[in-house]
This record gives sequence, structure tokens and C-alpha cells, in this order.
Amino acid sequence: MKLKKLLPSIAGLLVSATLLFAAAGDGLWMTRVPEKDRNRQNPFANDSLAVAAGTKLFHQNCASCHGNDALGLNNRPNLHSERIHAATPGELEWLLKNGSMKNGMPSWSRLPEQQRWQIVTYLKSLQ
Ligand code: HEC
Repeated sequence: MKLKKLLPSIAGLLVSATLLFAAAGDGLWMTRVPEKDRNRQNPFANDSLAVAAGTKLFHQNCASCHGNDALGLNNRPNLHSERIHAATPGELEWLLKNGSMKNGMPSWSRLPEQQRWQIVTYLKSLQ
């Protein structure tokens, strides 16, 4: 009896949760980052020249999906989010290198590692 009453709200919750995840990415990629990569340090942390270089690289490679301001476009995630704020630099560099292809995020392994770290510095400067 009670359960029957609850069912519509449970169904509603599931639908909104699915829509939310579809719109913002589900963050599952984070569970795939190996421990050793997670803890890697960004050689360009807080380097203002790297922020400038990373901004330029972002506009060239990422803005078509994430927007010029990294606020997200067409269901591609906003990168000013709590998740990106909390992510370690190593996690972000790992995602750039490996992508999340199944969900439509390409791999950037063809960029030199140094450029991926500059982009990470830019992402961290958004917070
Ligand atoms: C072709 C479209 C596309 C391009 C180009 C692209 N991305 Fe993505 N990006 C996505 C999609 C789709 C996701 C969601 C993937 C997921 O959640 O598994 C994503 C996820 C991310 C995330 C994780 C977001 C989160 O909340 O979990 C980061 C960080 C990111 N992208 C950064 C970048 C950077 C930096 C570049 C450029 C080097 C880039 N992306 C280029 C489509 C793109």
C-alpha cells in the first residue's frame, strides 16, 4: 500500500536523475583513474604563463564542445563544477590523455604532455 503510493515519486526521481546525469556527465571516469596517476603533480601549477597557454589550447581544442567560457554546450559538461574543482590535477590530466570515448569525450594523447598540464592549469584557474 505505502509502496504503491511511493512508486510515482520514485519513478520521477529516477527520470530526473537520468536527465541530470545525461546533461552533466556522470563522473564515472573518475573511478577509472589509477592511483599513481591520481597523485601526479602538475609541473605548471599556479604558473600564470601556463594559464595563458592553457586558455589558448582550450579555445583551439575544447571550446567547440565545452564553450569558450567552459560553461558547457549542448549537454557537454560545465567545467566550472564542484567535480572539476575537487578533482586532482592528476585525475584531470589522466582524463585528457585517455578521454571518455564511450560518452563522447575524445582522447588528447596526441597533444604533448606539457600542453595537457597547461590545460589542467587553466581548468584549475577557473575555480
Ligand atoms: C567532441 C566534444 C568534446 C571535446 C572536443 C572535448 N570534450 Fe571534454 N567532454 C565531452 C563530453 C561528452 C564529456 C562527458 C564525458 C563523461 O562524463 O564521461 C566531457 C567531459 C570532460 C571533463 C570532465 C567533466 C566532468 O564533469 O566529469 C573534462 C574536465 C573535460 N571534458 C575537459 C575537456 C578539455 C580540456 C578538452 C580539450 C582538450 C575537451 N574536454 C574536449 C566532450 C568533449
